[in-house]
Amino acid sequence: MSAAPPVLRTVPDLRTATAQWREAGERIGFVPTMGALHEGHLSLVRQARAASERCIVSLFVNPRQFGPREDFSAYPRDESGDLAKLAAAGVDLAYAPGVEAMYPDGAATSVDVGALGAMLEGESRPGFFTGVATVVTKLLLQTGADVALFGEKDYQQLQVIRRMVADLDIPTRIVGCETVRDADGLALSSRNAYLSAEERRIAPALHRALQEAAEAVRAGADPDAACARAAERLLASGFQAVDYLAIRDAETLAPVDREHEGAKRALGAAKLGGARLIDNIAV
Ligand code: PAF
Repeated sequence: MSAAPPVLRTVPDLRTATAQWREAGERIGFVPTMGALHEGHLSLVRQARAASERCIVSLFVNPRQFGPREDFSAYPRDESGDLAKLAAAGVDLAYAPGVEAMYPDGAATSVDVGALGAMLEGESRPGFFTGVATVVTKLLLQTGADVALFGEKDYQQLQVIRRMVADLDIPTRIVGCETVRDADGLALSSRNAYLSAEERRIAPALHRALQEAAEAVRAGADPDAACARAAERLLASGFQAVDYLAIRDAETLAPVDREHEGAKRALGAAKLGGARLIDNIAV
């Protein structure tokens, strides 16, 4: 069994460790997570290790990206299980700061990415992307990462982070990695743990709905009409509510019509029992 990586919990400890790597000319690959690691995270770790000499994974459930009625306290936490997975994956260092280390008393600054963070997920979860952008900015500055890897499963998050890194001149290369799915198409997510056996059986309908909408648009259908039909089928399959199902420009996430010539993305979020699932695919 591989030894667990060292777990650092403060910025000064992290900076001491990374300074030694920098002196040795080693590049740092970084995978930010909220823990409850699954194969999707581990595939990011493998890609980080391939891209750089050193690999850091952060484990931090960020309170600033949860709304007052969201699942911050219920969010799955399993630090010892996560560390065993990181040991097996050959990670050099786990960074698991407490909330006080990340947001000391008096911390007042936040990062807002404007319109890109206000649509889709941002409309359903006000303040979510400000919380994400703030913590990811801090994590990139704290780790000094050369490259940071994010799953395409959270596609809008990836676009928000790309925008933010460009706008703030943060010298980290952002890499988006393909969504890892179960055999039936369900995108891996820590929140899948909230699904009952029956809900787990229904859950792949979200991916199917996106595929149906994308297929219809490729065949020439109007994007809004295709999404409305796919949302109806999603509800008929057992989902209780569809927050959004939309075809958008793949970079700006602006609405598109049938004539749109750039790359497009189909994105959806829907509620199933106690879980809110999101997914997206290229059109
Ligand atoms: O995708 C996540 O797990 C989180 O939003 C992130 C990027 C780790 C920031 O808390």
